[in-house]
Amino acid sequence: MSPTPPEPALAVPGRPARTAALRVEGLHVTVGHGRTEAVRDVSFDVLPGEAVGLVGESGSGKTLTCRSVLGLPSPGVAVSAGRIVLGGTADDGGDDADLVGLTDRQWQQVRGTRIGAVFQDPGSYLNPTLTVGRQLGEPLRRRGLTRAEARRRAVELFEAVGLHDPERVHDSYPHELSGGMLQRVLIAVAISGDPRLLVADEATTALDTVVQAEVLDLLDVLRDRHGLALLLVSHDLAVVAEVCDRVLVLYAGEVVEEGPTAEVVAAPAHPYTEALLRVAALGRRDRRELAVIPGRPPEPGAAGAGCRFAPRCEYATAACVEQDVPLTPVPGTEQDSGTGGRAARCLRSAELTLSGVRERTDATERTEVPV
Ligand SMILES: Nc1ncnc2c1ncn2[C@@H]1O[C@H](COP(=O)(O)OP(=O)(O)OP(=O)(O)O)[C@@H](O)[C@H]1O
Ligand SMILES: [Mg+2]
Repeated sequence: MSPTPPEPALAVPGRPARTAALRVEGLHVTVGHGRTEAVRDVSFDVLPGEAVGLVGESGSGKTLTCRSVLGLPSPGVAVSAGRIVLGGTADDGGDDADLVGLTDRQWQQVRGTRIGAVFQDPGSYLNPTLTVGRQLGEPLRRRGLTRAEARRRAVELFEAVGLHDPERVHDSYPHELSGGMLQRVLIAVAISGDPRLLVADEATTALDTVVQAEVLDLLDVLRDRHGLALLLVSHDLAVVAEVCDRVLVLYAGEVVEEGPTAEVVAAPAHPYTEALLRVAALGRRDRRELAVIPGRPPEPGAAGAGCRFAPRCEYATAACVEQDVPLTPVPGTEQDSGTGGRAARCLRSAELTLSGVRERTDATERTEVPV
């Protein structure tokens, strides 16, 4: 009988340790068992203690990207190219780990200890028949804690995520807690293995505005206090702007703009970012969700030649649909794609000198067009 082949090593030789907590390089993701490319050439870093946002409309590829980072692809979905590298720490020997190609068992190990995750709809991730304390305690016990130690640690974690009366919460069943409390419970579960990276996919979307703000504050505190790297996914640029140092704007599976959030929000370099900002600003002020960007993004695989946003873009010219548009440095900024610079995928970003949210919003009001 031939010996079982060794599992791929977690370490990537030759890469410096203590760099980015997460580096995604040239990520391509296919759906439909390899038939259609739904994420194309996405690259970014998340540094320790940094919050990076992925923003874009429904279907832009946010979840495909972050589930790839978590090793949780749905059936028929696969990473077809690229690297996903977790930065090493002293605890794991300082080696960076390339996650593409890990076995399921290795992924489980990585998710339990090096990456934590929170999603929308926290209730669906908890077992309704077990107390939340037990559900947090079980993984702690698997890591060798006694029953009493696990209880103590669970209560500490519930306190750390801002749950009042953590002893009572510990002994509660999911249906006895509100949506905001359940999301805090899941954040406690996510950080219980002391990860370096927390991935939050629409983690506050189902919560009301006040609770959403509280949970965003909590993520910010965890990032600040524990040096956690945070990858925050939201369709709402206002949410990302509140928490994230840097942002990547995704459209139809591609990055169309990236850069420091404050700069991107103050002066968007891509018309799609400008449109998202308009939607975010209107949504926030009116407390209504009426704002939409006219038209729809192309389905994966259905994009024509040229800029994928061109059919919806009020600035598009013939040149925009003639050839693919590369992600290029935004003039006047230092660009180093994936490591903090500004870049946009627009032929006209320099020429248009996009004006920012205030002017666009006012123009919308004047013409009374539901944008
Ligand atoms: N399992 C799948 N099989 C086939 N297509 C898929 C699958 N998962 C995602 N897709 C397609 O890939 C595209 C990107 O999906 P993704 O879930 O990443 O979007 P998203 O940006 O997270 O959107 P949302 O804001 O609605 O969560 C969509 O067009 C979607 O239909
Ligand atoms: Mg999603």
